[in-house]
Amino acid sequence: MTNPVDLLSPVWTHMTHVQPVRAEGIYLYDADGERYTDFTSGIGVTNTGHCHPKVVQAIQEQAGQLIFGQMNIVVPPATLRLVELLDAVTPDTIDRFFLSNSGAEAIEASVKLARMATHRRNIIVFQGSFHGRTHQAMAMTTSKYAYRYNYQPLPGAIFVAPFPYAYYYGWREAETIDFCMKQLDLLFKSQSAPEETAAIVVEPVLGEGGYVPAPVEFLRRLSALCFEHNILLILDEVQSGFGRTGRFFCFEHADIKPDIVVMAKGLGSGMPISAIGARAELMSHWKPGTHGGTYGGGNAVAAAAAAATIQVLRDEKLPANAAAMGERLMNGLAELQAEYPVIGDVRGRGLMVGTEFTRDGSPAADMASKVQQECIRRNLLLLTCGTYGNVIRWIPPLVVSAEQIDDALGIFAEALAAAS
Ligand SMILES: Cc1ncc(COP(=O)(O)O)c(C=O)c1O
Repeated sequence: MTNPVDLLSPVWTHMTHVQPVRAEGIYLYDADGERYTDFTSGIGVTNTGHCHPKVVQAIQEQAGQLIFGQMNIVVPPATLRLVELLDAVTPDTIDRFFLSNSGAEAIEASVKLARMATHRRNIIVFQGSFHGRTHQAMAMTTSKYAYRYNYQPLPGAIFVAPFPYAYYYGWREAETIDFCMKQLDLLFKSQSAPEETAAIVVEPVLGEGGYVPAPVEFLRRLSALCFEHNILLILDEVQSGFGRTGRFFCFEHADIKPDIVVMAKGLGSGMPISAIGARAELMSHWKPGTHGGTYGGGNAVAAAAAAATIQVLRDEKLPANAAAMGERLMNGLAELQAEYPVIGDVRGRGLMVGTEFTRDGSPAADMASKVQQECIRRNLLLLTCGTYGNVIRWIPPLVVSAEQIDDALGIFAEALAAAS
């Protein structure tokens, strides 16, 4: 008999072959009752923890009432409840919302809105960015060539600027920021004039590209630059949003107001839902009927899950827990770094933390992979990231406790010893 796993397309990579049948909080369980500690949150999705009772209840109740109400035909009340909550958690300059199903779809929507509203074509992204796998999003993704290999030609009018990744350059932060701003100026002079640049799209913490927080000073200067040239600033909060970095959205750390916010992942606690938010005046340029989709805004179950997610994040003060637990985690990792110089850098914001492995100044992907495997052998699930694959990323559910952080650090210490 064919093993059903063999029926899956080989295009999926699998970090493990664990087959969870149930999950709760930070733990996954397989059919034999084996417990796995999930410090991946399904790549930043289950911020409220697996199967949070309030999210489960919202899904169950909504599924019994209305599963789907197509947005061009009717207006589901669950969607209206969600946009009211999105309005409450975003800055007052963001008061119109468009819903879709995935991060890539929301990125595509933000680019379409930016181009239509500004009548400009060009989009600037950053080196190491990950914005998704559909064609437009793929053209905006530079974290690894694998995401674009053999898929050329990609949509044009995308320009890539350096990201302020001080550890990579081996420079101080201030120096790196100055360099990046200078390079943006060069790009304006050499490739994309400001008056044909519709938007600059940035991840406030570079995700797939290596878990590198953009310095607050850089985000502020970027925001001022966009304002000066009437360029829209699009914040991709797909991975960094919904409490992950210790604030509801990561851009709040810099006290800036983006023109468009892109949201997905943590928004739905696992239900497929994404959104973009922008101010009413900007959205008013989006001509009715020029964008949409069958499911966006119509999946009432996903909308109910997202509304419950926002309530849980607020009621349980999960952004504050992310800040506190992130600090505890970073302190523990810094202690291990003192013991293991192969950990070249420990960085992060809230519970979006990276440990970068280097040897003699070069990326040590072999070590990152060995340590990851040793963690997996001990039932601790951790992902890697970075263009060179030499960063282990820490992204547990935001409900994680101090004891659970300490347990994970203990396993990581054992894994480091075993891999060394
Ligand atoms: C910052 C960022 N943007 C966009 C995406 C794409 O989201 P999706 O995989 O839901 O299309 C991701 C996914 O990892 C992401 O991390």
